[in-house]
This record gives sequence, C-alpha cells and structure tokens, in this order.
Amino acid sequence: LAKTEVQLASIPEGKNVIIKWRGKPVFIRHRTLDEIEEARTVDLKALRDPQRDEDRVKKPEWLVMLGVCTHLGCVPIGESGDYGGWFCPCHGSHYDISGRARKGPAPLNLEIPPYDFNEAEGKLIV
Ligand code: FES
Repeated sequence: LAKTEVQLASIPEGKNVIIKWRGKPVFIRHRTLDEIEEARTVDLKALRDPQRDEDRVKKPEWLVMLGVCTHLGCVPIGESGDYGGWFCPCHGSHYDISGRARKGPAPLNLEIPPYDFNEAEGKLIV
C-alpha cells in the first residue's frame, strides 16, 4: 500500500498541515502545550463519543486524523469552531483540539488513521 511520509520538522508548533492518504485528507497538527492540556482536561462525560485524548494520539504533540466529517463527509476547517479545533461548514459540526465531536450533527470523533513515527529520520508515516 502506498505510504505518505511527512518531515515533522517542517510543521511548526501550533500549525496544521493537510496531506492526502488513499485519496482522503489527513490532518496533522503540531499541538502546543496549552492545547494538549486543554485536550486532556475535558470532562469525558461532556463528550458524545467519549474518548481520552491519550487514546487518540501516539505522541501528545502530534494529532493525526482523517479530515472527513463524521456527519456526511465534508472536510472540516482547521483553527475554527467553538472548541478550538475544527469546524465543518456543511452543517455546522464543531470538533475540539483532539478532533472530538462537540457540537452539531457529527455523531463521532474524527477518525484516526494508522500511522507511525520514524524517529531516526524525524518522519511521520501515514
Ligand atoms: Fe460535516 Fe454535515 S458533513 S456537519
């Protein structure tokens, strides 16, 4: 299967990058310490699809997920919405800084694709 490699050093802290994986957008965010803290202090009972941030990332600073809204498949917009993450303009779903569905019609969190880090080369491999 085709793999996509991303040089992590090319993504500054606090920035998003979008790559293509099997024809779908994959969002990569280099999260700040504040964002990690925010993602990890959310009350899970407030979530419609309760998932700990710790279970959604392999490394706290790197959030990697499919850029496909879990409502009807539009591509959400980064750095927007009411929860500091993504906003889907199609029908108004809001996702937080862990990609979890917080408001609007999206029933589930943004999906996490399989990925790995190549530590020696500083790469993410999706
Ligand atoms: Fe995203 Fe409907 S497709 S809110």
